[in-house]
Amino acid sequence: MPAVGIVIGDGNREYPGKLTLYVTMTCIVAAMGGLIFGYDIGISGGVTTMESFQKEFFPSVYEKQKNDHESNKYCKFDSIPLTLFTSSLYLAALCSCVVASYVTRAFGRKLSMLLGGVLFCAGALLNGFATAVWMLIVGRLLLGFGIGFTNQSVPLYLSEMAPYKYRGALNIGFQLSITIGILVASVLNFFFSKIPGGWGWRLSLGGAVVPALIITVGSLVLPDTPNSMIERGRFKQAETKLRKIRGVDNVEDEMDDLIAASEASKLVEHPWRNLLQRKYRPHLTMAILIPSFQQLTGINVIMFYAPVLFQTIGFGNDAALMSAVVTGLVNVGATVVSIYGVDKWGRRFLFLEGGLQMLISQFGVDGNPGVLPKWYAIVVVLFICIYVAAFAWSWGPLGWLVPSEIFPLEIRSAAQSVTVSMNMIFTFIIAQVFLMMLCHMKFGLFIFFAFFVAVMSVFIYVFLPETRGVPIEEMNQVWRSHWYWSRFVDGDENGRVEMGKVH
Ligand code: BGC
Repeated sequence: MPAVGIVIGDGNREYPGKLTLYVTMTCIVAAMGGLIFGYDIGISGGVTTMESFQKEFFPSVYEKQKNDHESNKYCKFDSIPLTLFTSSLYLAALCSCVVASYVTRAFGRKLSMLLGGVLFCAGALLNGFATAVWMLIVGRLLLGFGIGFTNQSVPLYLSEMAPYKYRGALNIGFQLSITIGILVASVLNFFFSKIPGGWGWRLSLGGAVVPALIITVGSLVLPDTPNSMIERGRFKQAETKLRKIRGVDNVEDEMDDLIAASEASKLVEHPWRNLLQRKYRPHLTMAILIPSFQQLTGINVIMFYAPVLFQTIGFGNDAALMSAVVTGLVNVGATVVSIYGVDKWGRRFLFLEGGLQMLISQFGVDGNPGVLPKWYAIVVVLFICIYVAAFAWSWGPLGWLVPSEIFPLEIRSAAQSVTVSMNMIFTFIIAQVFLMMLCHMKFGLFIFFAFFVAVMSVFIYVFLPETRGVPIEEMNQVWRSHWYWSRFVDGDENGRVEMGKVH
């Protein structure tokens, strides 16, 4: 997930500061923000395959599943209310992004986190106690609104609190906590599905209240960021806070830069209109295409529906949930590889290697539903793991990191909202249409995503310059020396306007 804030640093100055207890606490809060997002991504697929859940809320899906042995197995989960249960969350997140960005700016990051936490608690409780489909969907909407708030404020909070040296790692750290959330959800689904009486799904859905409470309480006890205080005119308070956070007294340089960044960003009257200027064409292109492509890899088909998918091709209930745990583990492990490699091997290498690996594995994932021989089932899971690993060290973290490091200050927050919105729109579309597509295209569906993976890899190869090790304020050079983008940015001085640093 991205940070949308503006954090100053001229690239040459070294601000003094230690990794204090305050900063460590911010990491924990960030982890909760990511965990809850991941938990919501991972929980719905497993829950929708639990028989007792289907019987209670989606009896037609249950009947089809039980009695209909004739018709196309790929269609047994094709139900609009069922997909709405999953996808409504992303639509809500998209809508609340706009309000959240205003609240975060005008009232501070803490209030935004608090609102997110409260909405999460309400959504989790409504889901856990649901007795009708509308309660499920309203619960998911509340969770989605919560995500709009926390995904806006938590990464921003982190970027502003962290000593600048740790900012890059923290950006992918947030993605790591998303993957841990997905994993926790699939492990819990596995165990809760075994509870006699069939009410385990209530624990799965209601369980989201635990990270939700932590983030709610966290937002009350954590300090506001100095950046946010400056933004709201509280300079003295901000300076005292900065000293405390960094654990040192000489924070003048950083303080000056924070004030300068805040002033500069206030001068930008029309960030949205700015974004349409010709010189920002490369940035706008990336802000739109990178998050869209990230979703068109098809990753959320696996994240949302892995158990459904595994059941469709003939796995038993248990095996399907277990396989989701396996892919969840691979997802976490490969994200760690990305943290290690992103500044060593570069973004382009990871994008291209990941793309190729996903392409190969998508052609490998093929299956005829029915009773699968065991070796065949293992091969399918293996290919899915290769695919998930590829995503988790390429498009997963880079889909957020690269946009956040290429935007110059004057368009940063506007461009970043474009990135977040595009991500949510495509997540919603994929969640909503996947089961329908599976029904009509069967495993041809993976060829459909493979096509996009091929297109996006060529796009990266041709159009994305390497940004590894380039100070953000010098990013304009990268476009200037690019064979294609140079025609848009050449000859203007926006590189010098650039003064911010954000991850
Ligand atoms: C994506 C999510 C996805 C997750 C999987 C994130 O970067 O934005 O849509 O579910 O990675 O780990």
